[in-house]
Amino acid sequence: METPKTVILRWGHRPRRDARLTTHVALTARALGAAGIILSDVSDKKIQETIEKITHNWGGAFFFKMGIPWKKVVKDWRAESGKVVHLTAYGENIETSNILAKIRSMEKDILVIVGSQKVPKEFFSEGISDYNVAIGNQPHSECASLAIFLDRLFDGKSLMRSFENAKVSIIPQKRGKRIIEKTSALV
Ligand SMILES: C[S@@+](CC[C@H](N)C(=O)[O-])C[C@H]1O[C@@H](n2cnc3c(N)ncnc32)[C@H](O)[C@@H]1O
Repeated sequence: METPKTVILRWGHRPRRDARLTTHVALTARALGAAGIILSDVSDKKIQETIEKITHNWGGAFFFKMGIPWKKVVKDWRAESGKVVHLTAYGENIETSNILAKIRSMEKDILVIVGSQKVPKEFFSEGISDYNVAIGNQPHSECASLAIFLDRLFDGKSLMRSFENAKVSIIPQKRGKRIIEKTSALV
């Protein structure tokens, strides 16, 4: 089965308050196998710079887009036959339901919506999300829920992926740090 292209829609970012968490959501998305992230409705140049610098240095083709209205993102995604997964504590439990098997068997590209503040009711509707998925039915974090969802979707394989054109890479060690760094890395 082919790995679906997976893109994250980060909704509800509040530039002052959420900068660090949104950065972590984007880094998690990149490290765990997503193709890119869309920060909907608002722009935050600082986050964009941070993520693009990380991608330049650590490799891969991860994209960062921002400022696109969320409704347009969803509409365009669905128009291309992609499916939409909304991560929410209120959804179908990923462990106790067959939701992950259903999502996998579709073999469609996936847009994963994660919120920050309380999300619009519409997110739960058929018109927006194909699946409402809970990473357990306790409220926790967008970062944690995204990490677990992607890890399960890709069956842990993203953790051993190598990132093409990396200028910096880690050689795993039992102790201490070993890094290979090319001169073209940005500091
Ligand atoms: C910190 S929560 C805030 C949720 C908000 N209080 C509400 O009721 O919608 C931010 C985001 O984390 C994600 N999230 C939190 N807990 C989750 C869970 N158990 N399963 C899936 N996603 C979760 C959801 O995407 C949610 O929009």
